[in-house]
Amino acid sequence: MVDDQFYREYILDHYKNPRNFGRLEKPDVSHEELNPLCGDVIGMDFKLAEGRIEDVRFHGRGCAISQASASLLTERLKGMPLEEARKISKEEVLEELGIQISPARIKCALLSLKVVKVGAYGLAEEEFEEDEDDS
Ligand code: FES
Repeated sequence: MVDDQFYREYILDHYKNPRNFGRLEKPDVSHEELNPLCGDVIGMDFKLAEGRIEDVRFHGRGCAISQASASLLTERLKGMPLEEARKISKEEVLEELGIQISPARIKCALLSLKVVKVGAYGLAEEEFEEDEDDS
């Protein structure tokens, strides 16, 4: 059985060694969101191909929870169809962090998901328009 200590180390590891941290050159979509409670910002760059997230990087600053959450999410997003990314729930993201998140830190934990949702929705609209143009 995995205990809380493991999860804390796991989060700390993603915070200290964030996966997919940085910027992509010429991303297809780039989006940032602000946590209004603290002023921290997380942004993501997406490379897309055939309705999938081919590559993703995140940047910005924030607490361990927000950074670990972004790191975990980007690992999961690579190769994922956009439609699937749009359906990722808040509960899933919180569950993946694996620790009890206090109400005050919920926005930290979900900041990166907001970036994906708003970014992905914007993107879906563009794709939709392109499809219409093609027809
Ligand atoms: Fe700013 Fe958590 S305190 S994102």
